[in-house]
Amino acid sequence: MLKIVEVGPRDGLQNETASVPTAVKVAFVDALSETGVHEIEVSAFVSPRKVPQLGDAGDVFRRLTRQNGVVYSALVPNAEGFDRALAAGVDKIAIFTAVSETFNRKNINTSLAGSLRRFEPLLKRAQQVGLPVRGYVSTAFWCAFEGRIRPEAAIDVTLRLVDMGVDEVSLSDTIGRAAPPEVARLLDGLLPKLPADRIAVHFHDTYGRGVANVLQSWDYGIRIFDASVGGLGGCPFAPGATGNVATEAVVVALASRGAAVGIDPANLTPALQILEPYLKPAQRRMPPGGSRACEVCEFFDGGDGCSGKAAAG
Ligand code: HMG
Ligand code: MG
Repeated sequence: MLKIVEVGPRDGLQNETASVPTAVKVAFVDALSETGVHEIEVSAFVSPRKVPQLGDAGDVFRRLTRQNGVVYSALVPNAEGFDRALAAGVDKIAIFTAVSETFNRKNINTSLAGSLRRFEPLLKRAQQVGLPVRGYVSTAFWCAFEGRIRPEAAIDVTLRLVDMGVDEVSLSDTIGRAAPPEVARLLDGLLPKLPADRIAVHFHDTYGRGVANVLQSWDYGIRIFDASVGGLGGCPFAPGATGNVATEAVVVALASRGAAVGIDPANLTPALQILEPYLKPAQRRMPPGGSRACEVCEFFDGGDGCSGKAAAG
């Protein structure tokens, strides 16, 4: 079963500077509901001081028009967020932590261990009320502050979340720097320990490798893909990260592998057009070195972890 998780309303809007009126967000989510995407991450019940763009999460949930078969989920960081999410009627929650301690401190104001302690009671409560739980493993490949992340460390965090009762884990390339061989290495290590149907992938597209990483994951049997219409997205606490891999691109790429996606990319455009007047002009720029490929090792940058010489690409 293939599942596209549209994260534009959450990952996309959290990174926009303009304040988007609640009614426009509701119209955006409603339009996405008509496109055939399987799940929509509608918003985040996080601190409105930290992420003011999503301070109206409850109102968006209460006002959206649900379509049968679409799951409406939200990020939940702690007990307060859980209460707010439950009151708003979410179908599913997503807790989130990272492999990198520095990113965790900046993003969620605690350590990895501290975040797991926070999640424990949430998972119990979610089980009691029958709410499915996704767990994000951010910085699963690279961290903006700590550089390359060892696959063993990402696997360890993933399995700790699973042991705690998370239903599905989303392996996240927070800063969009992973290359397909890194995706392969992580999945090589993880798949013997966790079945593919419990693994989602969440690629940001900073270095233009999002689609290649999606296809690499597909070839490994992964069938849950996070994506954002128009390639919106980015984490305000991860400097340099640009948007998620675009839903339109993911749909076309998966169809090229023969997948029955059930989404016409042309139908995604009207949803994006609803937001268009509020979006800042696209400022995508390849980071320095991003277009260089290494002749010797599989890494692209000639930087950390690259054993060869970067060749001009
Ligand atoms: P904290 O430890 O309580 O401390 O919050 P804090 O200083 O960060 O925030 C404290 C303030 O937030 C207090 O209010 C609390 O009442 C309030 P103040 O006294 O300052 O007015 N507060 C809340 N308010 C409403 N709802 C809540 C809530 N919790 C605290 N649930 C916390 C820790 C994690 C909540 C906070 O740091 C936070 O909200 N951080 C933002 C995290 C975030 O949204 N990051 C972006 C999403 S993650 C991401 O993008 C990665 C992902 O896409 C995958 C990937 O790409 O890697 C998922
Ligand atoms: Mg993200």
